[in-house]
Amino acid sequence: MNSSANRSWEEIRADFPILDQEVHGQPLIYFDNAATSQKPRAVIDALVHYYERDNANVHRGMHELSARATAAFEATRTRVARYINARSEEEIIFTRGTTEAVNLVAQTWGAQNLRQGDVILLTEMEHHSNLVPWQILAERTGAVLRFLPINDRHELDLDRLGEFLTPEVKLFAFVHISNSLGTINPAAELVKAARAVGAVTLVDAAQSAGHMPLDVQALGCDFLALSGHKMCAPTGIGALYGRREILEQMPPWHGGGEMIVSVRYEKSTWKQPPHRFEAGTPNIADTIAFGAAIDYLESIGRERIFAHDQALARYAHERLATIPNLRVLGPPLGSASRSGVVSFVMDNVHAHDLVTLADQRGLALRGGHHCTQPLMRKLGLTSSARASFYFYNTEAEIDRMVEILAEIERFFR
Ligand SMILES: Cc1ncc(COP(=O)(O)O)c(C=O)c1O
Repeated sequence: MNSSANRSWEEIRADFPILDQEVHGQPLIYFDNAATSQKPRAVIDALVHYYERDNANVHRGMHELSARATAAFEATRTRVARYINARSEEEIIFTRGTTEAVNLVAQTWGAQNLRQGDVILLTEMEHHSNLVPWQILAERTGAVLRFLPINDRHELDLDRLGEFLTPEVKLFAFVHISNSLGTINPAAELVKAARAVGAVTLVDAAQSAGHMPLDVQALGCDFLALSGHKMCAPTGIGALYGRREILEQMPPWHGGGEMIVSVRYEKSTWKQPPHRFEAGTPNIADTIAFGAAIDYLESIGRERIFAHDQALARYAHERLATIPNLRVLGPPLGSASRSGVVSFVMDNVHAHDLVTLADQRGLALRGGHHCTQPLMRKLGLTSSARASFYFYNTEAEIDRMVEILAEIERFFR
C-alpha cells in the first residue's frame, strides 16, 4: 500500500477488492457503510498473515509465536489509544464492539454506582445498544431514564439541556453521530455541561470513530465506545475507552483466565485495567487486523475522510431533493451537523420495498428502523431508507442511486 496521504480516491477505492463486482448483473454500489464498512486489502492481508505465520494464544505462551501474537495484539491497543488520543493504552479495553462496550460500563460502573432515583440521561436519538443496557440497569437498580429531546431540525434541543441535566443525573450517555438521522452532536459541549453537574459521560462513537478525528482528552469524556467493523476492521472487535481513574475503581464483569492476579478456591484478586475487563482468550486475529485498519485510516487522514463524507452527503442531499415525494431526514441541507449518513422516506413506498428494488439494481441501501425504534415512533415513521457513505464512494454512484430512486418513485406513483 502506498501510504501517501495524496493518493487519489480512485486509487484508494482500488484497495477494496469487494467493490469490484456485479450484483444482480449491475455494478455494486455499497451505501450501507453505517451498518458495516468494507475492508481494504491491508486488513485482509493482516488476518491472513496472522493465521499463516503467527497464530498462538496471547499473554501466556513462552514461545516465539505467542510472543509475536502478543506483541501484535498489544500493538493494536497502543494504536487505538493514539488514534483517539487517550493518555495511555491502559485506558483501552477490547470489546466485541460498541454494544459490548456499553454493556460493560452498565454492568460494572453502573451496577456499582447507581441507586434508586438516580437519573441516567440519554437522548431521543440513541441506537438500541445505548438504550437497552441502561433499561436493564434501571430495572435492577431503580435508577430512572430521561431523554434529551430532538428539535424540528433533527438535532438535540440544546436549549433544553439545562432542564434535563440536573444534579440527579449520574450518567449522560449519548450518540456522537446518529445512525438514523446523520446528525453530528456537539460532543465536547455536551460533556462539558454534564461535568458541570458532576455526571459521568459516555460517548457512543460507533458512527464517528472511522469518519472524523476523535480526541478523548479534548472531549473530556469518561467513556467512549467504538466498533472496529465500521472503520475498516473485521467484525467482532471494538474498544471501550475509559478514563484511568474511573477504570481503576470499577469491578470486573466477566471472570476467568487472563483477568486475575491470583486465584484460590474461595477467592481471587484482579489485574489492573484494562486486563481486569478482558477475561478468557481474546479475539486475537481481528484485534491485530484492527491495528492494520487504524494504520490504513491514518494513512488517508481523518480530516480528509470527514471532508469527503460531508461532500458526498451534501451532493446526495441536493440530488435527492429533486425526486418528488421523497423527504430527507436529519439536519437541513448545508448544516455543519450533517454527517455522511443520509436517511429518507418516500411517500407511499415502504422502505423495505424500496431497498429490495434498489438491490435488484446493484444498490445496497438499508431500510427499516435502524435499531432506533423509539426515534422512528417519535417521528411518526415505521421505517426509513438510508444511504451511508464512506471514502471509497463516489458522486457517480450517487448519480446512479438518484436514477434508481427516481425510477422507483415513478413506478409507485
Ligand atoms: C450509533 C450506533 N451505536 C451503536 C451501534 C452498535 O454497534 P455494534 O453493533 O457494532 O456493537 C451502532 C451500529 O449500527 C450504531 O450505529
